Amino acid sequence: MVKEPPSCGSTMAAAAPSLLILHPRRLTLFATTLRPLSLTHHQFFARSRHHFSSTTPHYPNAAEPPRAGRSNSVSAPPPDYAQKIDVNPPKGTRDFPPEDMRLRNWLFHNFREVSELFGFEEVDYPVLETESLYIRKAGEEIRDQLYCFEDKGNRRVALRPELTPSLARLVIQKGKSVPLPIKWFAIGQCWRYERMTRGRRREHYQWNMDIIGVPDVTGEAELISSIVTFFKRIGITAKDVGFKISSRKVLQEVLSLYSVPEASFAKACIIIDKMGKIPMEEIKKELKLVDLSNEAIEDLLQVLSMTSLTELEEKLGDAGEAVRELKQLFSLAEKFGYSEWIQFDASVVRGLAYYTGIVFEGFDREGKLRAICGGGRYDRLLSTFGGDDIPACGFGFGDAVIIELLKERQLIPEVPLEVENIVCSLDPDLQGAAATVATLLREKGQCVDLVLENKPLKWVFKRAARINARRLILVGKSEWERGMVSVKILSTGEQNQINLDDLQ
Ligand code: HAM
Repeated sequence: MVKEPPSCGSTMAAAAPSLLILHPRRLTLFATTLRPLSLTHHQFFARSRHHFSSTTPHYPNAAEPPRAGRSNSVSAPPPDYAQKIDVNPPKGTRDFPPEDMRLRNWLFHNFREVSELFGFEEVDYPVLETESLYIRKAGEEIRDQLYCFEDKGNRRVALRPELTPSLARLVIQKGKSVPLPIKWFAIGQCWRYERMTRGRRREHYQWNMDIIGVPDVTGEAELISSIVTFFKRIGITAKDVGFKISSRKVLQEVLSLYSVPEASFAKACIIIDKMGKIPMEEIKKELKLVDLSNEAIEDLLQVLSMTSLTELEEKLGDAGEAVRELKQLFSLAEKFGYSEWIQFDASVVRGLAYYTGIVFEGFDREGKLRAICGGGRYDRLLSTFGGDDIPACGFGFGDAVIIELLKERQLIPEVPLEVENIVCSLDPDLQGAAATVATLLREKGQCVDLVLENKPLKWVFKRAARINARRLILVGKSEWERGMVSVKILSTGEQNQINLDDLQ
């Protein structure tokens, strides 16, 4: 054990330990009357609002130094390259101050735990990708929302708007070295220059789970089961959220009745996905432009209004894949135990060109928010990138809409800062001894907030309450000389002198 040589000590060193011993009640009072920092969701978002507020004071101007915000700020003239900055992040993007970061970590922790419960492995890809990964000809909205530019080597690059093309790229790159089925999950930031609405931002984080190499709807059924598991863990029920499920094969089978060219299919899906967002006349006009006859359009619209599988079966018969797969999925949902969460809705087609089969989206039953998550089968994506086709399905789940939903339902958890120990020296000369104690504890896996300056005990107790410390460890002269420290359990006020060797 390393022990600092006893110092000559100051008046505070001599006075403070005796204060601890003689007036334990007074100190306990400090420790228990200060409320720990656990935020209610109102406080949480009030703080976020304050943080994002455009009224946050800026430097008055570049020529003058900033007004010191804290008593210990150093005030010096600004360097000659100083400039007044906008302290808000770019429109549509977010800072994550510690309280927001704790909530984000809580969310991602649940994403990760659920993925691992289902046996998925985590992967990640670069945020910056080759632009061509996202250039598809079907007229998707995502293409117009791309953050793209030419890098210094004249390469066209883009900030990823989604993770699926990167996944396809990596699967092709890995080739046969990875045994099928691949079950991968990722949590990554995506960028879309989107019109801002509630829960829709210019950057968001997406949780993705994908299965590569399973042609059967057992894949989709497993994916939906994982999302349901996630919802249940965070307190969301089937009364709050549902999944609308359909299949692009429904459209394919209708269009095949009218000899609509294959090339029009993905384009028609993208147009249909705009239903409800632009007037119906506009939809019909666009469908005509991709070679659909009036008759085909009317038939299609009639099928798209269906919400009953029986009705769909009457229309398409039971021989086709669309009805067969949908029926199989609903039957599997019963076995998994999530039937009450799902409903057939032919109007769901999704806005990405590459889906080929089952498509689904999670929606808020109160209808206040946009899609919570979405996904489906994309059996042909790999060949569009020059690879061999391998059956694939997956989903994307954003961080922004779910936080809005949790706010609506008052389900934002309290995620307080928790640092197990606060270690403080009672004498500036014992700062090194306090560092030794902190190191000792950290090596045993204990989290320690080490008080780095000479602060009054009142300040230390306040800080201990703010970080929700369980123990206060005081390094005072007389104990240190005997190889001991004072350990105070802050919840009870119980205080003991403990030998450094016994400190756990
Ligand atoms: P997506 O439907 O475009 O699908 O996005 C999936 C989810 O990401 C949405 O349901 C929403 O939660 C979130 N999201 C999308 N855009 C924004 C935005 N601007 N602001 C906030 N959240 C947003 C995909 O991206 C597919 N790649 C998903 C997938 C994975 N399909 C198969 N595998």
